[in-house]
Amino acid sequence: MSRPSVLSQRAVALQPSLTLAISARAKELQEAGRDICSLSAGEPDFDTPTFIVEAAIQALKDGLTRYGPAAGDPLLREAIAQKLSNENGVPSEPANVLVTNGGKQAIYNLFQVLLNPGDQVLIPGPYWLSYPEIARLAGAEPRIVGSSAETGFRLDLQALEAAITPRSRLLVLNTPGNPTGRVMERTELEALAEFLRRHPDLLVMSDEIYEALLEDGESHHSLAAVAPDLAERTFIVNGFAKGWAMTGWRLGYLAGRSDVIKAAAALQSQSTSNVCSFAQRGALAALEGSRDCVRAMASTYSSRRQLLSSGLQAIEGLTLVAPRGAFYAFPQLPEGVVDSMEFCRLALDEEGLALIPGEAFGDGRCIRLSCAVSHETISDGLQRLERLLDRLRD
Ligand SMILES: Cc1ncc(COP(=O)(O)O)c(C=O)c1O
Repeated sequence: MSRPSVLSQRAVALQPSLTLAISARAKELQEAGRDICSLSAGEPDFDTPTFIVEAAIQALKDGLTRYGPAAGDPLLREAIAQKLSNENGVPSEPANVLVTNGGKQAIYNLFQVLLNPGDQVLIPGPYWLSYPEIARLAGAEPRIVGSSAETGFRLDLQALEAAITPRSRLLVLNTPGNPTGRVMERTELEALAEFLRRHPDLLVMSDEIYEALLEDGESHHSLAAVAPDLAERTFIVNGFAKGWAMTGWRLGYLAGRSDVIKAAAALQSQSTSNVCSFAQRGALAALEGSRDCVRAMASTYSSRRQLLSSGLQAIEGLTLVAPRGAFYAFPQLPEGVVDSMEFCRLALDEEGLALIPGEAFGDGRCIRLSCAVSHETISDGLQRLERLLDRLRD
């Protein structure tokens, strides 16, 4: 007998994360004895650098086991403000910073305090799959502004102009991007800034969580630094998960004008309260310590990214816009082959290869592969992928 649902409309409408579901299914098959090669990971395969772990252990021993200020440890807020000022060129004070449970909560809090029901959030596609869901949770309507592999996944300002309505409230940026690995160029951000000046009511969220993971010769540019006149309406989301291999620590931050940060801190004080007190000391050590560990991991991702990119480029029929940052590649499947959902189902069932369908990121012609795995796993994955494509073409 089926029970009547007790769930709210909000809960019923929510899409669970497909990336987490696929990783879990791959793990299940592996535990059942299948030989699985997973290129689905969305997190570093490195351990958190030891000096960061030690700082958190020390904080625990020192008794940092109580509630702290909801907006974050003042020392950490100060260190983040300095990092934004000195490294990103975005002058900031502690009052401009909120420490959050990962970048995800920074986005959640921001959307909750900026958006009213019916507002539209402009999301350039392909996009990280949580943006539309978090927008819906705030009662807003995600409006996707697509781009494609054919145009190098560049943000199309004409399409953006066409998508804008009087209800458009917030534009989402993500550079370096998940899933494409695309890094926005300075000139592109300058052109976007011009566009934003013509739309003075549009706010911007700039998700820069992959900023440290770049190919040689690439630079990360923050919109608020490229166009300081837009800093008042630009909100930066960032965190420690990707650059410092700290996914499980749940440490991120939101930065922007102080009244919005204050509102987001009030929201946080009524939901999760402060981020784990001693974990914040780990993040403080990360910012105060040497960046050699980050550079070493970035350089490893770089050689893996090159292996993955050249392998994908060598496979007949795939179209790849070579990723320049983050740790993903997002090739387009050949015309006429099955869609990305079916392709990924076949890859897992027939080849034991875990991939993420592009459908999850708003482009059903593509698949996402991660290079946050060893060279051996990447090479193995490429062989399985090629075998499946050969079979599908026959
Ligand atoms: C583009 C992007 N933004 C934000 C996040 C959230 O990261 P965190 O683990 O800090 O919540 C992720 C995680 O995968 C991401 O890919």
